[in-house]
Amino acid sequence: MKTRPPLQLVTDPAAVLHHHSEPVKVFDGDLRRLVDEMFERCVEWHGVGLAAPQVGLNLQLAVVVYEGHRFAIANPRRLSEAGEVDAQEGCLSLPGKAGLVRRFEAVRVRYRNLHGKGVVRDFDGWLARIVQHESDHLQGTLCSQRLAPGATFDPVPEDEEEEDE
Ligand code: NI
Repeated sequence: MKTRPPLQLVTDPAAVLHHHSEPVKVFDGDLRRLVDEMFERCVEWHGVGLAAPQVGLNLQLAVVVYEGHRFAIANPRRLSEAGEVDAQEGCLSLPGKAGLVRRFEAVRVRYRNLHGKGVVRDFDGWLARIVQHESDHLQGTLCSQRLAPGATFDPVPEDEEEEDE
């Protein structure tokens, strides 16, 4: 791992946000320390999810911190999906803006946890949205590239700002 604490938030434009990230291959103490700090920064920055490219690392790794859920995903792959739903979405790396983003309503995802164990898990609702958003980051795709037909990605008035992913 090349970074040292504290991790810095990368905002667009930045090449690291647009690259395909490398799979995590080594699940060791360094990775767990990185994940711990990503959890901390995610909460500090008022996010509900944070992907490694957002702290400058092209690694297929993300954390989710949302309503009592707190877990890390590495090397995620979507196995199946159902339904579609549009909702307002923002991103820590696209500060102050949001737009209507179309996502699958429910997804089944295979990933590795921070111990390297393979997990298959079903997500729905907002958690499904967050997992799709973070998985997109690991392929170099931002939510502003997933807008619902006719939607635009626009500045959000400050008093309306919500949690970002
Ligand atoms: Ni994001």
